[in-house]
Amino acid sequence: MVARIVPVDPFDLVVFGATGDLARRKLIPALYHRMHDGQMPEGARIVGVARAKMDRDAFRRMAAEALDEFGGEVARDTEIRDRFLRTIDYVPLDVTSHEGWDALKAALPDGEGRVRAFYLSVAPRFFGDIAQGVHEAGLTDAHSRIVIEKPLGHDLASARELNGVFAGHFEEHQIFRIDHYLGKETVQNLMALRFANALFEPLWNGRHIDHVQITVAEKVGVEGRGPYYDGIGAMRDMVQNHLLQLLCLVAMEPPSHFEPDAVRDEKLKVLRALAPLTDPDALVRGQYANGPGCPSYLDDAERGASNTETFIALKAEVANWRWSGVPFYLRTGKRMKSRVSEVAVVFKCAPHSIFPAASGRAAQNVLSLRLQPDEAIKLGMTIKEPGPGGMRLAPAILDMTFADKLGASNMRMPDAYERLVMDVIRGDQTLFMRGDEVEAAWAWVDAITARVDDEPPALYEPGSAGPDDALMLMHRDGRRWRELVQQ
Ligand code: BG6
Repeated sequence: MVARIVPVDPFDLVVFGATGDLARRKLIPALYHRMHDGQMPEGARIVGVARAKMDRDAFRRMAAEALDEFGGEVARDTEIRDRFLRTIDYVPLDVTSHEGWDALKAALPDGEGRVRAFYLSVAPRFFGDIAQGVHEAGLTDAHSRIVIEKPLGHDLASARELNGVFAGHFEEHQIFRIDHYLGKETVQNLMALRFANALFEPLWNGRHIDHVQITVAEKVGVEGRGPYYDGIGAMRDMVQNHLLQLLCLVAMEPPSHFEPDAVRDEKLKVLRALAPLTDPDALVRGQYANGPGCPSYLDDAERGASNTETFIALKAEVANWRWSGVPFYLRTGKRMKSRVSEVAVVFKCAPHSIFPAASGRAAQNVLSLRLQPDEAIKLGMTIKEPGPGGMRLAPAILDMTFADKLGASNMRMPDAYERLVMDVIRGDQTLFMRGDEVEAAWAWVDAITARVDDEPPALYEPGSAGPDDALMLMHRDGRRWRELVQQ
């Protein structure tokens, strides 16, 4: 099987904050890869915008360095690299001032009828100026799109305000709110698995599923992001968006079509069905302490004291018929034992064992979808141990990754940003959050943060699985977290 490239029409992509980290690490390499794979149409224009005074050549050199650092092996293809760099322009612009917008307009002549996307890779305080600036400069029309990244507010009130800022200048179908987790291959595979197979749906409910675990564990700490992160914490940085989005995809009803509003309507229903999390035992907040050769969160954030959590474990409940009695355990943390992101759907035990005690116990079936570091879908089964020796039960993993079978094992998996940026150009919002989803997620999170923000989090050792209380959260229910191991 070969990768299928769906061509897009020539477009303009204006990246505000083009000298920043996200542009260097993700956007520039993502765009290069799309060109390398033949998806970037002739005539596409990329314009970087930032405050720094530099000319186009200096910005191209910067983009070339970003490719060296983050573009991987394929970024060394000099012919494509030169072609790619030639599509890039740069306009210095302070978005809070009235000057410079004409230069941006001059860099984008003859844009009528073209898809034009404005990617806001800047702090949210500039969102309003940019939305207004591009309008006043006459850079927008019905084909324009605006792309924004988290933080999409820090609570419900600020998220509403932000939605209002954009609604003043763009229609909802022009606003693309990125949650890069939705661009990950396995996340989309979760939808394929659930909705392209008849096998799972009859089992996908509280009669057969015991619980769901969603883990996003990182090895890194907050590093240089301390000033942003302090006062934000894992609840707002990770749970409100990435983990709740994953929960939605597991819990939602089958949409009638794989279309933006059909999918997002179903996700919204899940968010609105989340029961308020009021049980103090259902939430554990942690903060990494220092360890051998490892600075603490307080060192990283350059704070003497802070109640910001770098770890969260919680038990959520989706209060509807399908999920009645099925806990969703969510955990995420920094400086943990390993980098593992996965969704695990743990099925109930077989209702009655016909085998003698000497056969051993049948394990619960677990469907695990691994997002990273390696993409994988596996089903934990119990089988008879092969060979003589009587009926002995043994665990076995059914690997449903299928990449090998589809001949795709050598295929480079595109980064989430590659897919998401191209979806923006295509105008497909299926993998983007709608404004009401973001607000519903904040409404649930706000009620929790209002209660616990001022409480000191439990300290945990770097390189561990988080505070002991997090283990207790599940042990109390007679369950355990899955091991944080790389497969
Ligand atoms: C970002 C968070 O949204 O996601 C970061 O702000 C986090 O704190 C990152 O490190 C994790 O993304 P990924 O794709 O590396 O799992």
